[in-house]
Amino acid sequence: MTDGAARGYSLPEAGRSEVALDGPTPPPGGAPTGAPPGSRARRGRSSGRGGRGAATAVAFGPGRVNLVGEHTDYNDGLCLPFAIELGVTVRARQSPDGLMRVHAADIGSHDVFPAAAPPRAEGWRSFARGVVALLTQAGYPIRPARLVVTGRLPRGAGLSSSAALEVALALALLAHSGHREPDRRELARLLSRVENEWVGARTGLLDQTASLYGRPGHALCLDIRALGAALAAEGRAAGAGQGTADVPAADPPPAPAARAVPRPPGRWQVGAGWPGGAPGGPATAGIEPVRLDLGRWRLVTVDSGVRHAIAASGYNTRRAECARARELLGIGSLREADDEAPGRLPEPLARRVRHVLDENERVRLAVAALRTGDLLSLGRVLDASHASLRDLYEVSVPEVEETVARLRAAGAAGARMVGGGFGGSVLALFPPGRRPPAEAVRVLPGGPGRLLRR
Ligand code: GLA
Repeated sequence: MTDGAARGYSLPEAGRSEVALDGPTPPPGGAPTGAPPGSRARRGRSSGRGGRGAATAVAFGPGRVNLVGEHTDYNDGLCLPFAIELGVTVRARQSPDGLMRVHAADIGSHDVFPAAAPPRAEGWRSFARGVVALLTQAGYPIRPARLVVTGRLPRGAGLSSSAALEVALALALLAHSGHREPDRRELARLLSRVENEWVGARTGLLDQTASLYGRPGHALCLDIRALGAALAAEGRAAGAGQGTADVPAADPPPAPAARAVPRPPGRWQVGAGWPGGAPGGPATAGIEPVRLDLGRWRLVTVDSGVRHAIAASGYNTRRAECARARELLGIGSLREADDEAPGRLPEPLARRVRHVLDENERVRLAVAALRTGDLLSLGRVLDASHASLRDLYEVSVPEVEETVARLRAAGAAGARMVGGGFGGSVLALFPPGRRPPAEAVRVLPGGPGRLLRR
């Protein structure tokens, strides 16, 4: 990683195993508050807003893999991520001189800034500065601290090293400053604003929500519109989901030829109800754990080798295209778009909207496949998602295509790029008896971001 990296954060674990970092398995049952099961906020042990801070606070933020539901989060849609066992750890201790002092252990890089008013910075420094600034703004003044950051997540590989870092920073800083943890849905929004306002990437809520709500053995079916609506109903946030406040539309790039993508059967019916019933009452509306029971099948990721820096990639352009499509359709979010909406739009906006509509449907199909243990169908959903991201959303690059082809040749039942695209990792599902390539990393659903010590 270089100091100038726009987004993505990677640090080797400095002698500690990630497994050792994993906390206790949360108890079964959904989280009735905004905090996930097993979190300190839920157990009521926090010291309260502005109380005495911990002398040393250590927190872990996991990365995430998204099974399906890509580029749907900022369109108030559906996603199916899971937090992984790899992540980032932040240790906060008292600062000797009233300044924030951050040590990024892998690159031997440092940052020093005043906690009360962090100035803007480039690259990795914008994360800690942004987290401190936005927590303070939200009424959680941050005590000056010495921070040491370690971790094993590859940067820019589509596994959300950024959200892992933000979550670990926020949880460590809140505990060190003596604050009770805010509602985790609100914390996810605040951390997403760090990306938007400090890092320059107009990302949605997928990564932070997955990192804050991970549950071992489960994926999380996120309905971003329902999440926003629940928060609004509780008076915690204005507006519905993420699709309503957006960047101005950019000039759409010239349209390359579209390729037909096999469409999955069935269609997500807006308002038809949540697959399998409402998730765990109003407080967790929009976050539904779905058992990820793979038996002897394996999910692996392979790095395409192309680093993606979301702020610098076409991500913001795609988001602007969706905003333009909404404007032309006269709707507040693409979740309101009907099946005929693409036909009323010019290219490439029609292709973008087609992808979003189909991708929401694929999340529903993937949930159904997991519930019935139909992993072959799950593989087909991964393939269809990849084809759509390549041909309709146009966020693939040749190295990603080569990686997907290699994984399929090795016997994967399905393979797709994960994350924002333009590089990063490929996720593949392998049936029993098929061996993934040597460089593949097995990914397992782990627990949420959590305090390891205070
Ligand atoms: C990145 C962003 C997420 C989401 C994905 C694409 O990971 O951080 O908010 O938009 O891309 O699904």
